[in-house]
Amino acid sequence: MVALAEEFGTPLVIYDGGLLRDTMRRYVSAFRAHDAQAEVIYASKAFWAQALLRMAHEEGLRVDVASGGELFMALHAGFPAEKIVMHGNAKDARELGEALDAMVGLVVVDGLDEIALLDRLAGERGRTQDVLVRVTPGVKPSTHQYISTGQIDSKFGFSLEGGLAAAAVAACRSAANINLVGLHCHIGSQIFEIGAYRLAAQLLAAFVKEQGGDDLTVMDMGGGLGIAYTRDDEPPSVEAFADMVMDSVSEEWDAAGLPRPRVMVEPGRSIVGRAGITVYRVTGTKDIPGVRRYAAVDGGMSDLMRPMLYGAVYEALLPERPEAEATEVLRLVGKHCESGDVLIQEADLPPIGPGDLVCLPATGAYGVAMASNYNGVTRPAVVFVDNGEATLVVRRETYAELVARDL
Ligand code: LLP
Repeated sequence: MVALAEEFGTPLVIYDGGLLRDTMRRYVSAFRAHDAQAEVIYASKAFWAQALLRMAHEEGLRVDVASGGELFMALHAGFPAEKIVMHGNAKDARELGEALDAMVGLVVVDGLDEIALLDRLAGERGRTQDVLVRVTPGVKPSTHQYISTGQIDSKFGFSLEGGLAAAAVAACRSAANINLVGLHCHIGSQIFEIGAYRLAAQLLAAFVKEQGGDDLTVMDMGGGLGIAYTRDDEPPSVEAFADMVMDSVSEEWDAAGLPRPRVMVEPGRSIVGRAGITVYRVTGTKDIPGVRRYAAVDGGMSDLMRPMLYGAVYEALLPERPEAEATEVLRLVGKHCESGDVLIQEADLPPIGPGDLVCLPATGAYGVAMASNYNGVTRPAVVFVDNGEATLVVRRETYAELVARDL
């Protein structure tokens, strides 16, 4: 990390390329161990560099895109369109047209207006589009409310309660240019209590039974497996998650007397989160007597929004002195003109000063993917390290790029 920070500058996001690939393989084999037809769909919103998307394709994953832009990036990385799953709660005509023109494998429909629009746009192209209906089963796992999506009062999908999901299934079945093939649900993110997936499977199996027909053959159970951000976090393993999802679906569908569906899952965070580390350089410290000590670094909310947005807790380590004893509690802050630009409220660290490197582990998901240019800060470079070799996969943004779009 010290050498990479020297070579590529800071802030720098470093991924363990071997761990990325290994996690993808573990995911695919854990699910395929239950059913060779099971599919792992990488949720590209978590981190969408071309190098990562190409790796996901090489490892046999499909890809979930949530906008026209993510669709473009997946196609650009070489994903065949039939492996792409198009998401979004507010897809517009342009994005749906792009998905149809690319001939994506699946569109996950999220609203009645969208179903009507997709039907018309597919008809204009003389096409029939395979779709999943996004269902919100009313399961609320304990996670931050902004990243919990399976509850009824949500902007996403169609709730089972109140008949919305049934209406969506009926609308798809009667649309001439839409081919309903199954259901989708995503109950939330950063989930440790994976029993919530069993509850979702129970509700979904009952719904499939109630809807009858033989067209609901795909069950996409979404993403959501949590990761460890601090050393106190103990999330379930990928294998435990696979067992829970696959066993729940098999058992609930069997119990309902239904033929087992083809299961899909859409992990994002649990593939890329732990593989990424962000390295910053300390610009200065200050002591406010009787209050606290601050240390400021050369990045912050522009490369890592999560502490500010969700109160997410990270730990800090010193790449230059990893074994040094933590004797200080200080507030690690970013360089932005916002009091809330705090990376760690209370970081346990050895004494540090200007020029020292500090790294935050587990920043690989929803870090650079949510980066901004606030305060004209250029977005960081991204490096993959594999077998002792570093490859720059995303170069640092330049000042010229900050004005490149202005007319
Ligand atoms: N599928 C759908 C439909 C989703 O909405 C999401 C995430 C995923 C899959 C992937 O979920 P994962 O396996 O990564 O939990 N920015 C927030 C997380 C937002 C998640 C949005 N949806 C954060 O930094 O915690």
